[in-house]
Amino acid sequence: MKADGIDVISFGAGEPDFNTPQPICDAAKDAIDAGFTKYTPSAGINELREAICGKLSRENGLEYYPSQIIVSCGAKHSVYNSMQVLVNPGDEVILIAPYWMTYADQIQLAGGIPKVVYASAESGFVPELAQIREAISAKTKAILINSPSNPSGAVLPDSILQGIAELAEEHDLWIISDEIYERLIYGTTFRSIASFSHNTKDRTITIGGCSKSYAMTGWRIGFAASPLPVAKAMSNFQDQVTSNPTSFAQKGATVAFNLPSESVEAMRVEFEARRDLIVGLLSDIPGVMISPPKGAFYAFPDISKCLLPGETDLDLAAFLLEKAHVAVVPGSVFEGKGHIRLSYATSRENIEEGVRRIKDALANRQ
Ligand SMILES: Cc1ncc(COP(=O)(O)O)c(C=O)c1O
Repeated sequence: MKADGIDVISFGAGEPDFNTPQPICDAAKDAIDAGFTKYTPSAGINELREAICGKLSRENGLEYYPSQIIVSCGAKHSVYNSMQVLVNPGDEVILIAPYWMTYADQIQLAGGIPKVVYASAESGFVPELAQIREAISAKTKAILINSPSNPSGAVLPDSILQGIAELAEEHDLWIISDEIYERLIYGTTFRSIASFSHNTKDRTITIGGCSKSYAMTGWRIGFAASPLPVAKAMSNFQDQVTSNPTSFAQKGATVAFNLPSESVEAMRVEFEARRDLIVGLLSDIPGVMISPPKGAFYAFPDISKCLLPGETDLDLAAFLLEKAHVAVVPGSVFEGKGHIRLSYATSRENIEEGVRRIKDALANRQ
C-alpha cells in the first residue's frame, strides 16, 4: 500500500526508531578502516565477551567468565542455538502465552514440543505458578521466559521468578531467559532470574543483546551467557552454522556494552512518554481495554469487545489496514487472541494520528 502512495501508519515495527549512538557507529567505522574485516573466533572477540561480562556484573549482578559468553547474530540466533543444543526430539519446552512467535517455531525446529501456559490479561499477562507447575511433565526440558515481554509488555515480578527458579530446581529443568528488553522498563525494576541463586544460574541460559537497548537491530549482535558445557556446545554448533558474527559489528557492540546505562536513558524516557500517550488514547476507544504495560515498547489491548459477530483479531487487523490505513499485528499470532499489538516505537505524531484513525474507523462501522 505504501508503494502505491497510500499513507499507512505502521504500529508493526519491533525496533526502536532512534539512531544507534554515535560512539558505537564510530567504533565500527574505525574497525573497517583499520582492516578489521576478517573472520574472528566463532564465539566472538575476547574484548566483546569481556565487555558483556562487565555489563552482566554491573547491571545484572551476574559473574561470568568470557568463555561462558557466546556472541551470535542477534538474540534470535542465541535463542536458536539454545534450542539446538538443549532440546532433543520429543522434549517439551514450557512457553508462556502470549509469546514471541519465533520461540514456538525454534522449539519445533529442534524437534521439541512447545507446552503453552496461558497468562490472562486480568493478571497483567503474568502466569500463575500453579499453571507452570501443571504444565511440567516427565518430558519437560526447559521453561522459557521473556520479561519484559513481546508482545504484552509484562514484567515478571520477583515472586514469580523465584517460584520459576524453585520449580526448575525441583524438576531439574533448564531456564532460558530472553532479557532483550531489560532496559526498557517503566515504573518497576528488572531482575535477571539467574541472579536468584547459584543453583538457578547453573541451569539458566541468559540471553541478551544490543538490538533494543542501543537501537542496533540491523547490527545483528546478541549473546547467551550459560554454564560452560552449554557454552561450549553452542560455540561448536555456531562454528558449523554461521561462524562468527560480523567482525566490525562486534567492535561497535563492545563500545555499546561498555557504555554507562544512563547513556540510553533518554530513549527509555521517550518510550515511557509514548507508552502513556498510546495507553491514554487507546483507553478512550469504546470497547478497548488496556492496562499500562510495564516494559518493552508494545501495547497489547484487548479488542474483543470491538469485534463484530464472527470476526477475529485477524479480521480486525485486516479491516484497520484497509479502512484506516493503520498496520497492527493481530494478537493471535502470539497466541493472544482477541488482542492486537501496537508497537509505540514510532513518533508521537504517528501515535496520535494512528489511534485517531482506529477510533474513527471503529466508530463508523457500528
Ligand atoms: C522477545 C524477543 N527476543 C529477541 C528478539 C530478537 O532480537 P535480535 O534483534 O537481537 O535478534 C526480539 C525481536 O523482536 C524479541 O521481540
